[in-house]
Amino acid sequence: MQTQLTLRRPDDWHLHLRDGAALRSVIAASARQFARAIVMPNLKPPVTTLDAAQAYRGRILRALNEARAAGEIDDLAAGFEPLMTLYLTDNTGAQDILEAKASGLVHAVKLYPAGATTNSDAGVSDMARVRPALEAMQSVGLPLLVHGEVTDPQVDLFDREQVFIDRVMLPLRRDFPALKVVFEHITTLQAAQYVAQAGELTAATITAHHLLYNRNALFLGGVRPHWYCLPVLKRETHRQALVQAATRGGAQFFLGTDSAPHARHLKEHACGCAGCYTAPHALELYAAAFEAAGALDSLEAFASLNGPRFYGLPVNEGQVSLRRTAWQIPDSLPFDGESIVPLAAGESLAWQMVAG
Ligand code: NCD
Ligand code: ZN
Ligand code: ZN
Repeated sequence: MQTQLTLRRPDDWHLHLRDGAALRSVIAASARQFARAIVMPNLKPPVTTLDAAQAYRGRILRALNEARAAGEIDDLAAGFEPLMTLYLTDNTGAQDILEAKASGLVHAVKLYPAGATTNSDAGVSDMARVRPALEAMQSVGLPLLVHGEVTDPQVDLFDREQVFIDRVMLPLRRDFPALKVVFEHITTLQAAQYVAQAGELTAATITAHHLLYNRNALFLGGVRPHWYCLPVLKRETHRQALVQAATRGGAQFFLGTDSAPHARHLKEHACGCAGCYTAPHALELYAAAFEAAGALDSLEAFASLNGPRFYGLPVNEGQVSLRRTAWQIPDSLPFDGESIVPLAAGESLAWQMVAG
């Protein structure tokens, strides 16, 4: 039985780091696991300008320095690189895009259909309004990242991703054939199939939780808010299609944790927040999913090679190793003066990361 797994250092292509004390609470976890991360811009207020992205990057780097000074991370982890994104709004213009690209700090622009998920109220209300921005992105090679769910209340919650393909993805690909697009955190067979046949300029991130769990996890023995995220977990056939895409689907599929921290009391609430916190044990969760599929040997491509290739960035130097050692995910962790419950708290994992 394989007891050691060594990979080139991986990256997280979809991460929520939040801000302020929350950022300080979670930064070390991602820095230990990943060399770089695409940092989501859905702060309050959202990161809509280059100035705001530069300032946010500065706060992330400060939090990293504090974590190193406090002995939470070593020098290698302190070199964690935040890859910034802009939040696309109805008012984003071509000039905003050109400046962002020229800065070298902004690596993508995020489309949230208005109201689709956490802090998305400032999102795009009509795709027609963002055509100049999308044209500029296409011409300078700045990828568009999409939260791929329609917000139409008439559409069943479990169907919102597949309806998004027809209503938004197909017209978008038709109108902007040279734009790089990442369909973020895909959750359905339809999205996996769509991306697989859409050509090399269309990619997808897949979370560890959508590879490991189906929607039964939300209701096992009672309603379980820590398994609630958007897009919501789907039925088992979809989970299997995602596993197939991640392990055997090729270079268009790569790792994006969508680690989305919310304080415990906001998850265990009458109207609980969407988002699973997976940053501290992300790679171990992915290893569990890949091992269950008999595909540990394809984890490196998914975690460390496919993402840089799509984004046009070099792969990382160095390696990380996982060792087969059973360990228990903590029941809770400190967060912003309160606590946070990591996904699958209290459960056991077979793999554990060891220093590179
Ligand atoms: C994310 C968050 O909390 O910021 N939540 C989630 O359930 N995934 C937002 C998002 O990625 O849609
Ligand atoms: Zn999202
Ligand atoms: Zn997200």
